[in-house]
Amino acid sequence: MNEAEMKVARLRADDVIYKYLPEEAGYPSTVISAINYSVKAGGKRIRPIFMYETFRMFGGEGEVIEPFMAAIEMIHNYSLVHDDLEAMDNDEFRRGRKTTHVIYGEGMAVLAGDGLLNMAFETALKAFDVKGANKNQVIRALKYLSEKSGLYGMLGGQACDVDAEQKKKEIDLQELMYIHENKTGALIQAAMVIGAILAGASDEETDKLSQVALLVGTAFQIEDDILDVEGDEKLIGKRVGSDVKNNKTTYVTIKGIPEAKKDAKEMSDQAIRIFDEIGKENGFLRELIISMIGRTN
Ligand code: IPE
Ligand code: IPE
Ligand code: MG
Ligand code: MG
Ligand code: MG
Repeated sequence: MNEAEMKVARLRADDVIYKYLPEEAGYPSTVISAINYSVKAGGKRIRPIFMYETFRMFGGEGEVIEPFMAAIEMIHNYSLVHDDLEAMDNDEFRRGRKTTHVIYGEGMAVLAGDGLLNMAFETALKAFDVKGANKNQVIRALKYLSEKSGLYGMLGGQACDVDAEQKKKEIDLQELMYIHENKTGALIQAAMVIGAILAGASDEETDKLSQVALLVGTAFQIEDDILDVEGDEKLIGKRVGSDVKNNKTTYVTIKGIPEAKKDAKEMSDQAIRIFDEIGKENGFLRELIISMIGRTN
C-alpha cells in the first residue's frame, strides 16, 4: 500500500467529515463537545475512503458523495462510542485516547452516540442540496444507509454480539458469521454500495460490489479479532485482550489464530476475484482491499 496515497485519501476524508461537524455552542455544548471528541480522535477513516474510491471507480464526480462520506463515519463513530460503554464492551481506550464515556460520563456518551446517529441522517439529507444531484440516486443511497445501519445491519450484529455475551452462550461459526457480517460487514457494504449508487453503477455492478464489500468487511472483523490478541497497543490505539476480558466468542476463539488468518486471506482473495470481474479500474482501491489483511492497526 502506498503510504503517501493513503495519507492523501485520509486527509480528504477528514476534510469532508470536519465540514459537517457541529459547532460547540449553546446549551447542548457538552454533548457536542463529546461528539467532536470522538470523531476528531481520528481513526483510519476506511469507510469514507472506500465510499469515495468506489464512487470514483464508477466515474462519479462532484460533491454529492460528501454528505454520505461524513454520514457513514458518524454512524461508525456512534457504534464505537456505544460499543465502548460499560454496558457493552467496557473499554477505556480507543484511537490512542480515553473513550468518550470515560471523559464525559456514561449519560453523555449515550447521548453523543444518539446525536451522531441522528446527525448522520441530517447530514446525508444535505445531498439533496448539492447542485445537479440525482434525486433518485440519493433516495436509493439513503435507503441503503438506513437499512445497513439498523436491525438488518450493524445494530442487528451488535445486538447478537451482546446477547451472546450476556447469556454466556456458546455460539457456533454460523452465528458468528452473522455477527461479523452485520456488526462490521454491513457498514463496509453501505460505504461501497453507496459510492456505486451515487456514481450511477448498474444493478449488476452494485450487486457484485456488495459481495466484495461483505467479504472485505467480514475479513476486516476477523483481523480485528486477531489484533485483539496479538496487536500492538501503540498501533491499534486500543487495549489488547478486550474480547478475552468479556469472554467473547470470536473468530479466533472458534478457529485459532492460524486458521483465522488463513480464512481472512481467503475471503480477501475471493473479494478481489469478484472485484476484478467488475472490470473497472481503481488500482488504489484494489490495493486498499488487499491491505486490510495482515494489517497492524
Ligand atoms: C473498529 O473499526 C470497529 C470494527 C468494526 C472492527 P475501525 O478499525 O475501522 O476503527 P477506526 O475508525 O479506525 O478507529
Ligand atoms: C465492534 O466490534 C463493531 C462495531 C459495530 C462497533 P468490536 O467490539 O470488536 O470493535 P472494537 O475492537 O471495540 O473496535
Ligand atoms: Mg463489541
Ligand atoms: Mg469493542
Ligand atoms: Mg474488537
